[in-house]
Amino acid sequence: MKKDAQLYKDTKGILIRHEEIVNAVRKLGEMITEDYAGKEPVLVCVLKGACIFYADLIREIDLHVTMDFVIASSYGSGTQSTGNVKIRKDLDFDIAGRDVIVVEDIVDSGVTLSFLKRILADRGAASIKIATLLDKPARRKTDLKADYFCFTVPNEFVVGYGLDYNERYRNLPDICILKPEIYNQ
Ligand code: IMP
Ligand code: MG
Repeated sequence: MKKDAQLYKDTKGILIRHEEIVNAVRKLGEMITEDYAGKEPVLVCVLKGACIFYADLIREIDLHVTMDFVIASSYGSGTQSTGNVKIRKDLDFDIAGRDVIVVEDIVDSGVTLSFLKRILADRGAASIKIATLLDKPARRKTDLKADYFCFTVPNEFVVGYGLDYNERYRNLPDICILKPEIYNQ
């Protein structure tokens, strides 16, 4: 997408360029490849926000991996977590005894992932780690820590590279800061 594309006009600008994301995702893939040597982890994509990150990340992991998908949402249409987390699409595979890596777009309050982690642990996973593209520690309401993250972001609402506002802007290639007038209107 060109830098003067229409979709950028609702943003205050680019926070993380696509090229920086590509480099960070490659490094993360190499790290996971080393850490899981000899294993065949289940990579759980938390839809929909993590889908682009996930698609790029698994192609940087030099191991056999099992792909699985979950939809867990705590958000309505706004920018605040409701704290009310639901699984709307469950995993296809039994994860008992498996090494699980949950792949998320952003850890904000941490409510969604604390809930998901608890559920997956109850199913008898051998290990559960969290890999997130973005970490927004300023808004954390739980003691959840990501095992792997690519970037820390400030307390602003960001979109692009899979992250949305009301289902829009996921297809921006970069991580951009959304203009507050878009979500305050
Ligand atoms: P948490 O439960 O508050 O950690 O919320 C996690 C989910 O909220 C993420 O998976 C995102 O879908 C969404 N979210 C949190 N912050 C942002 C943001 O800045 N931009 C877009 N989505 C966000
Ligand atoms: Mg979202």
